[in-house]
Amino acid sequence: MKRAILRGAARALQSVSAALANRDRKLPMTLRTSTHDLLKASVMARHLEAGDRVLDVGCGHGDRLVHLSLFQRELVTFGVDLHAGAPTMLPGAVAPTLGAYDGETLPFADRDFDVVMSCYVLHHLRPAAVDALLVEMVRCARRRVLILEDSVERFDLFYRLRNWAHIVDTDLEYAAATTFAPRVDTGSFLTRGAWQAKLASMPRATEVRVQPLDAVSRYRHHTLFVVDLSA
Ligand SMILES: C[S@@+](CC[C@H](N)C(=O)[O-])C[C@H]1O[C@@H](n2cnc3c(N)ncnc32)[C@H](O)[C@@H]1O
Repeated sequence: MKRAILRGAARALQSVSAALANRDRKLPMTLRTSTHDLLKASVMARHLEAGDRVLDVGCGHGDRLVHLSLFQRELVTFGVDLHAGAPTMLPGAVAPTLGAYDGETLPFADRDFDVVMSCYVLHHLRPAAVDALLVEMVRCARRRVLILEDSVERFDLFYRLRNWAHIVDTDLEYAAATTFAPRVDTGSFLTRGAWQAKLASMPRATEVRVQPLDAVSRYRHHTLFVVDLSA
């Protein structure tokens, strides 16, 4: 008991003194909670090459591009979304160029980017809009498309419930945005097999892989699809 109290006091002192010793190192709050995002970025970065031009479609605040730049050298990163965001910069990271677009036609030339990616966007779109956006992404990509989605082998009752609640939640969140069409249904949550079949049918797709993510993140529905494109 006495030992446990002493240890508790030593740990409290250690924590306070370390905080004071590091008081001039300003770490963004997001770094304290986004370990799983950094782990994902480290895996995604394996599919990029040094110096790649990378486009993130539906980039939000652009934080994933910031994270990627920590794991691959000299990336030139761009992000588009319905509204222009502002990323949380991290020490040593590259700032992305972010902009807004109409949600349909990517304002870039054919094969302008080595890699085009999209994270947790497609399940918010109606099925026809998913197909149209994928065609646009492939058009702008030279070598590869990366898709991070909420997907599992099979949606059981709890996942169906979770997916429905997620759509209700985000429809409410985006309700004020004039460019965002509320979803109301969960038809764009696809199983891994269904995504693989859809992505394999894209023009120029030569191979589609499911890239395992880290094993320590809590949710197993975060799934990375890697689509290689022909020249
Ligand atoms: C769940 S957030 C994901 C944000 C970011 N990709 C991430 O991983 O943190 C979904 C994003 O999709 C965007 N979005 C919705 N419809 C879109 C469209 N047609 N084209 C591009 N982005 C869209 C929303 O504005 C929102 O930023």
